[in-house]
Amino acid sequence: MNIKGSVALVTGANRGLGRAYVQALLDAGAKKVYAAARNPATVDLPRVQPIKLDVTNPDDVAAAAKAHTDVTIVINNAGIMRSAPVVSGRVDQAARAEMETNFYGVLAMSSAFAPILKANGGGALVNMLSVLSWVTLPGVALYSASKAAAWSLTNALRKELRQQGTLVVAVHAGYIDTDMVSAVQAQKTQPSAVAQQVVQAIANGEEEVLADAISRQVKAGLSAEPSVYLARNAA
Ligand SMILES: NC(=O)c1ccc[n+]([C@@H]2O[C@H](COP(=O)([O-])OP(=O)(O)OC[C@H]3O[C@@H](n4cnc5c(N)ncnc54)[C@H](OP(=O)(O)O)[C@@H]3O)[C@@H](O)[C@H]2O)c1
Repeated sequence: MNIKGSVALVTGANRGLGRAYVQALLDAGAKKVYAAARNPATVDLPRVQPIKLDVTNPDDVAAAAKAHTDVTIVINNAGIMRSAPVVSGRVDQAARAEMETNFYGVLAMSSAFAPILKANGGGALVNMLSVLSWVTLPGVALYSASKAAAWSLTNALRKELRQQGTLVVAVHAGYIDTDMVSAVQAQKTQPSAVAQQVVQAIANGEEEVLADAISRQVKAGLSAEPSVYLARNAA
């Protein structure tokens, strides 16, 4: 797909990885980028069209789809992480919040924009997943569950939208240097490095991006014996 001349919409575009996606799309020659944010006043990049969009709000999603029928690339980037052990009093609240944004938000956006992508020749739908779609860590198990659900949804969307010519891209990454993991001391990939790989993948027609060494290792480890998600000392 040619990025030059494309019209992109990025959710959660005001900071972190979403902001980097916007920049990478502009750098690659996108004609127009809708920078969607819960508070569009917080979008600080020039040359973009800020729009108000909370992915958990059906009215916002419907309004965005109604108003922006020229979109050819959708990047479902918005996401939240709530730390909670699987067994705790806070579990229900955390799990529902994460599923609302990380799963139902992606589903709502994909459903609303699939007909638009079709009408515009196919285009691309990118879902920001995680290495935690495949393995889990203490404290973020519910986030992992939401990203596992979003991975399965992405695989289903790929099959369903193939016939209309839409490229569906799954992006998996370990730690990325954003607010979401600012408390974590570990090696992190720069958001710009992830975003540039994804934009290149769209251009190349690739359906999956393993953005760093850990995501490549974990994917390879899924079929190891024992599998990476069974190993006692692994993530
Ligand atoms: N950072 C990592 O290590 C890492 C690794 C793998 C995958 N990811 C995924 O990458 C994506 C981007 O995360 P990030 O690292 O950039 O996190 P971040 O710095 O916390 O930014 C999250 C973004 O999502 C937006 N957002 C949250 N809930 C939303 C909603 N209901 N509607 C619209 N926007 C919403 C936030 O907007 P506000 O400013 O309004 O809060 C913000 O723009 C997420 O899907 C995340 O799960 C992150």
